[in-house]
Amino acid sequence: MIPRHLGIIMDGNGRWAEAHGLPRQEGYKAGLLALKKIIAYSITRNIDILTVYAFSTENWKRPNEEINAIFDAIQSFCSSPTNMCSISFCGNLENLPDKLKKTAEEITRKRKTNDKILLNIAINYGGRADIVNAVNKILSSQSLSKIDESTFASYLSNSKLPSVDAIIRTGGEKRLSNFLLYESAYSELVFVDTLWPDFDESELDRILYELQRRTQKFGGAYV
Ligand code: FPP
Repeated sequence: MIPRHLGIIMDGNGRWAEAHGLPRQEGYKAGLLALKKIIAYSITRNIDILTVYAFSTENWKRPNEEINAIFDAIQSFCSSPTNMCSISFCGNLENLPDKLKKTAEEITRKRKTNDKILLNIAINYGGRADIVNAVNKILSSQSLSKIDESTFASYLSNSKLPSVDAIIRTGGEKRLSNFLLYESAYSELVFVDTLWPDFDESELDRILYELQRRTQKFGGAYV
């Protein structure tokens, strides 16, 4: 299986900066460079969508300088006219800094769809919040006594995207940390120790090979 839709938890940016004797904020600049390389390489591997965990609902607990460094990295990417990808967002954009919120709203309005890859950026995102949000939308819009899975999924913020085939987490932790909870029901999970700024094309290739091997083992019964 070559994943069409890959999720990435880009963990280890702060630790990478500390290991290089740099302020943690520098880790997010390095993380953005790694992301740009991975987007370009994913295009050559026929991946259609990357959903990346850029800012979780829990990340508000971090010091302001760190929060700002993450938002600055996202802002600089989203404002660059040289992007080779379409961009979409999932999560609650309401509490973001004004400039980033406006940029995100504008990108959503003018959504380009003819690019080679879609970068779906999870900002102020939490899987549980997304599920609860879907329930609230259902409660306020319909008086249903029963609902099926596909109708429920249509209320999630990623309802327009195909299901996520695989999720990679860098940085050594082995958990989903509230990322794509509903969508990951059948996803392959891959955990690597590499800190995100060090993640590169050869490591992605190794993972794609491993995914192919894993799914071949099940004789095409991939769900
Ligand atoms: C976790 O690493 C990662 C984040 C909180 C955010 C990562 C965001 C970027 C790399 C910028 C993304 C840019 C775009 C355009 C999507 P951590 O710093 O918590 O790692 P640690 O465990 O080493 O502290």
